[in-house]
Amino acid sequence: MTDGNGTLAWWQTGIIYQIYPLSFQDSDGDGRGDLPGILHRLDYLADLNIAAVWLSPVFASPMRDFGYDVADYTSIHPWFGTLSDFDRLLAGLHGRGIKLILDLVPNHTSDQHPWFLESRSSRDNPRRDWYLWRDPAPGGGPPNNWLSFFGGPAWTYDETTGQYYLHQFTPEQPELNLRHPAVLEAMLEVMRFWLDRGVDGFRVDVPWLLIKDAGFRDEPENPAWDGIDPHGRLLHIHTAHQPELHRIIRAMRAVVDGYPGERVLIGETNVPEEELVKYYGAARDEFHLPFNFRLIYAPWDARKIRQMVETYEAILPQRASPAWVLGNHDQPRIASRFGPDAARVATMLLLTLRGTPTCYYGDELGMENGVIQRDRIRDPQALNQPGISGVFNRDEARTPLPWDTSPNAGFAPEGVDPWLPLGEDWPMRNVARQAADPRSMLALFRALTRLRQCHPALSHGSYESVDTKADGVFAYKRTAGAERLLIVLDFAGSEHLLDSGELADGAEILLSTGMRRTGRVDLRRLRLLSNEGLILKIS
Ligand code: GLC
Repeated sequence: MTDGNGTLAWWQTGIIYQIYPLSFQDSDGDGRGDLPGILHRLDYLADLNIAAVWLSPVFASPMRDFGYDVADYTSIHPWFGTLSDFDRLLAGLHGRGIKLILDLVPNHTSDQHPWFLESRSSRDNPRRDWYLWRDPAPGGGPPNNWLSFFGGPAWTYDETTGQYYLHQFTPEQPELNLRHPAVLEAMLEVMRFWLDRGVDGFRVDVPWLLIKDAGFRDEPENPAWDGIDPHGRLLHIHTAHQPELHRIIRAMRAVVDGYPGERVLIGETNVPEEELVKYYGAARDEFHLPFNFRLIYAPWDARKIRQMVETYEAILPQRASPAWVLGNHDQPRIASRFGPDAARVATMLLLTLRGTPTCYYGDELGMENGVIQRDRIRDPQALNQPGISGVFNRDEARTPLPWDTSPNAGFAPEGVDPWLPLGEDWPMRNVARQAADPRSMLALFRALTRLRQCHPALSHGSYESVDTKADGVFAYKRTAGAERLLIVLDFAGSEHLLDSGELADGAEILLSTGMRRTGRVDLRRLRLLSNEGLILKIS
């Protein structure tokens, strides 16, 4: 496949599927998903028509932040299996033509990582400045006013050496000093370890935080603070978006580029758009795919989403691929945000926009936020900030994937207590049921991913908004060569009669979200049903 400028890489045309490994499939009866469990479900993954799996962290970890606190970057946590299990999974995925992307967490380690144990042992330990240590403020207390995302100050005092260390998440996640050449080199070495083993790339955690102000200056108050999210009280001008971080990303990219095959570097760039585009790199030498999180925060409003897509298309560097996401392990489920009907339309949107979509496990079933009783909350962000957990805690988006109607939904053996409770609707919403229903969300997801594979206009065609003049409708054209597709989506929950006669007289329905309509339609009198999305082939 080519875009006229050379061959397109798999990550420009394919779909990425995020697995939260603790919740995918338990194979050893401990109530937690693991690598052999994923291997056991290869058929399912292959049937999703995805190009790659991105695995949230599976490395050795005390699990204070469920793997985002790494104690050894090159070994597998026993909950998930062994390095041999990992190799088997990698070979199994590759055997099905599916790539594997790992999560790289370079900003912080676990406080149990040997590097940190050494660093905290004495002020003159050779690894002391691998982390960010500061003296107390002159009058005592933390060195500055920086805040943790998970509540409280970003500093913890360490008795042994009488200094504070920086952590913007839990106190058990001390932040590395990536300005130190040896630290950066150690992280690049971690990447080489996995690339040598054959992995196809990395999703890099919190890249916008990698470098902090060298002077450790206080951050100013945020005049627009909503009064709810404690971390939002300050403007993060000294902890986020420091220009120097791009040098770190370029070094990571150079490592990835040094390997044969098409390896990919993806960024968790949960940042404003004007920052986001910088992560492609001035010489296109940073992330191949910096995630765009705007769809996650956008209201379900046709006009606003159209505007957002157009703005992003306009500011993207030339020939850059957008990388849209609708959900992930930190965010409420799409089906809970927009409702089950709109979730079908949202999935059509995600899978028909230009660029590389990343889908979160379970969204293909329309999974909703789980109900987590207070005493079962595991998410450290929620536990540390009860005010926020009343609104959403991340466990709600991390419940086990329901496979069938057997005990524990086929996720774990009978009698085992899954690490998080199954969503309450699992007897009705599970893979087996949906696989047997030709109009289920799963059937829609598979039809959409198949269409993307078969239609160049969808996988890599150009994008152009179409004005339907109807409130609550978002429409756009995707074009590649002679193929012209029209996507029409209702956001308003109402029926419309549209006139798109200026495009052509008629078109053929390739797919409707309701999966009932097929055949030809008159574009001068196109009926769009409530909560419906259509993919039309203009002819
Ligand atoms: C990222 C991860 C999140 C984690 C945090 C700290 O945002 O997605 O789950 O808690 O980084 O590593």
